[in-house]
Amino acid sequence: MPAITLTTLQSLKQKGEKITMLTCYDATFAHACNEAGVEVLLVGDSLGMVLQGHDSTLPVTIAEMAYHTACVKRGNTDALILADLPFMANATLEQTMTNSAMLMQAGAHMIKVEGQLWLAESIRLLAERGVPVCAHMGLTPQAVNILGGYKVQGRNENQARQMRADAISLEQAGASMLLLECVPSELAAEISQAVKIPVIGIGAGSDTDGQVLVLHDMLGLSITGRVPKFVKNFMQDQDSIQSALKAYVNEVKGVTFPGIEHGFSA
Ligand code: KIV
Repeated sequence: MPAITLTTLQSLKQKGEKITMLTCYDATFAHACNEAGVEVLLVGDSLGMVLQGHDSTLPVTIAEMAYHTACVKRGNTDALILADLPFMANATLEQTMTNSAMLMQAGAHMIKVEGQLWLAESIRLLAERGVPVCAHMGLTPQAVNILGGYKVQGRNENQARQMRADAISLEQAGASMLLLECVPSELAAEISQAVKIPVIGIGAGSDTDGQVLVLHDMLGLSITGRVPKFVKNFMQDQDSIQSALKAYVNEVKGVTFPGIEHGFSA
C-alpha cells in the first residue's frame, strides 16, 4: 500500500486540508511528484493529447492506459494512483469489470470514469468488488462530440440542479471520489459540501476539497499554444521542475491556487 490511501484523503476532507493531485504518466515523474508531496497521481487519458499528440482523448486504448499505469507504479512509493478508463472501455458492464481489473492489476488504487447518473450501476458493481471509483463530472472530454466542444458545464439552473442530484446519487451508489471539470465555482462549492466523499476540481474554483492539473500544462508545456483559463504555469517563477511541483503543492495547500481568475461563473 502507498502512504496515501483513500482513508487519508477522506480525513484530509474532514480536516479541511486541500488534496493535491497531478496527472502523471511515467516512473520518473511519479518519483518527482512523490518528492514534492503530491498525494494523488492521475494516469489520465489526457496522455492521448500531451504524450501522443492526438487532438482528443478518444484514440487512447485500455492497453496504453495499463502500460502507463504500470510505469507510474514502478516510480511511486507514496501517492495513491488513480487511472482513467479510456473512451468506450466502460461501454458495457462486462467491459467495465474486465478493463478496471486490468488497470488495478497494473498498479492503480482507484479508477476514474467519465459520465453522469448512468454510471451508478457500474460504480456499485465495482465498489462491491473492491475497486474504488472516482466519477468525473462536468466537462467530460470523452463526450466532446456530444458536448460540441470543451465548454463549461452546469451554467444554467436546470443543468446545475441535475449535476447536484447526480453527484449525490453517485456517492450513494458507492463512488469514493468526484472530479469536477470546468464547472462554475459556486456550483462546485455546493457539490463539495453536499457529499462526504472528496471532490477534486479542475476549472472548478477553490472551494472543492482538492485540485488537479495536467502535468504538462502546469509546467508551461503546450503543443498548440492554447492554454485553458484554469491553468497556471508553475515554472514561471521557478528554476527547476522539482521546485515547480513543490510550488503547486504549497499553493494548493495554502489555497492561493486556484485564484478567482482561474475559475468560471454561472
Ligand atoms: O485525463 C486527464 O488528465 C483528466 C484531467 C483533465 C482531470 O481527466
